[in-house]
Amino acid sequence: MGPQTDIVGPLIELGTSPAGAPAWIIRDYATVKKLLTDERINRFPHPDVLDPPRFTTAEILQFKQVNQGGPPPPDDLIRRMVATSFSPRRMRGMEPQVNAIVRELIQDMRRAGPPAEIRSALAEPLSAHVISELLGIPADARAAVREWSDASVDLTNPARSAAADYELKALMNDLVEEKSKHPGEDILTDMLRFSDQEPELCGRDLVIGMAAGLRFAGQINTVTLIDRGLYLLLTHPIDRLRLTDPKVLEHAVEEILRFPHPVQRRIAGVPRYARADIYLGDVVIREGDLVILDLDDANVDPSVFADPESFCPARSENPHMSFGYGPHYCVGAALARLELKAVFGNIFGLLPELRIDGDPEALEPRRHQLSGGVMTLPVTWARG
Ligand code: HEM
Repeated sequence: MGPQTDIVGPLIELGTSPAGAPAWIIRDYATVKKLLTDERINRFPHPDVLDPPRFTTAEILQFKQVNQGGPPPPDDLIRRMVATSFSPRRMRGMEPQVNAIVRELIQDMRRAGPPAEIRSALAEPLSAHVISELLGIPADARAAVREWSDASVDLTNPARSAAADYELKALMNDLVEEKSKHPGEDILTDMLRFSDQEPELCGRDLVIGMAAGLRFAGQINTVTLIDRGLYLLLTHPIDRLRLTDPKVLEHAVEEILRFPHPVQRRIAGVPRYARADIYLGDVVIREGDLVILDLDDANVDPSVFADPESFCPARSENPHMSFGYGPHYCVGAALARLELKAVFGNIFGLLPELRIDGDPEALEPRRHQLSGGVMTLPVTWARG
């Protein structure tokens, strides 16, 4: 009898990672979902493999073993460290504050008058402020940290991303020293507490790496989703003022999360390394191989989503995988949803005549960051 096949869907192909290494790309919803919970593939390469196929050239996006030679950290480690800090309940408590920040940023845009650029005037300052506040990053370091977070995930300039990764971790190192002497009411302090309780599982290096990861993840993905959401809402004929209705808003946000950016989709999905041979139809993924699970493609799989290539803000059945699935499900999902709702629920009331400034199809794609989107999103409106 031949090997048992693990295939659950038809779309798998040998491609390359953004770093140019050979990688299996999985595109169908059922297989992506299955592999996201499969113990035979892991986010970390096997510790004995000296030169695993690289996912990207950005240092901060390599999942390297901190514990060299030892087993990889348990899948639920990040969740155990920070899940309570980002729980939906805690995030709901932040709603008034996040709404106030959004409204203030939009008022600033109104005061300055049209035109404006959404990423720099609204999306970046919002997401950078919120995640810096949560991590306890001091006000005077925030502008630099915002820059480093953006540069650290540059896929096309290894020297730039390595320098930013270094600076980000150096700052986190100093903060960790500071917070261990003077604990605060912040997530870094929560992580240090966990590290003190579980030193074998989570040393200081891991706390520093995690803090840097949280900082860039809290900014980069959210900025792209704000950019994507406004692009979609402004290029489709929908009643945007109805987004003040919480149910309408909730469905629209989930559809924005599902729908790949029309200008530049994600550059690649999420990476994993095979820890055993896996048989998918007539393909054998060998132990050690790099596997990329393409969430954007899974999100338009016609066997799961009706009319998947249409942006339907009222879609009610929407089991998208934009935040992943299983043990690594995004810990920042509740925070991201909160920020997206604050933006799309407020902006059209304050700027009812908002529109893209220029031809939406001529906008420059953002190809140097995994999350895609556009380089800039210029908008304008009639002065009130
Ligand atoms: C709309 C914005 C966001 C999107 C689309 C997004 C997407 C994702 C995805 C797809 C994963 C799973 C990765 C995998 O399986 O390997 C993930 C994990 C993660 N995300 Fe997000 N994310 C967003 C916002 C955030 C925010 C705001 C934070 C920080 C507060 C954050 C922190 C993390 C962390 C730490 C993980 C790793 C979780 C783990 O491995 O257990 N994300 N995110």
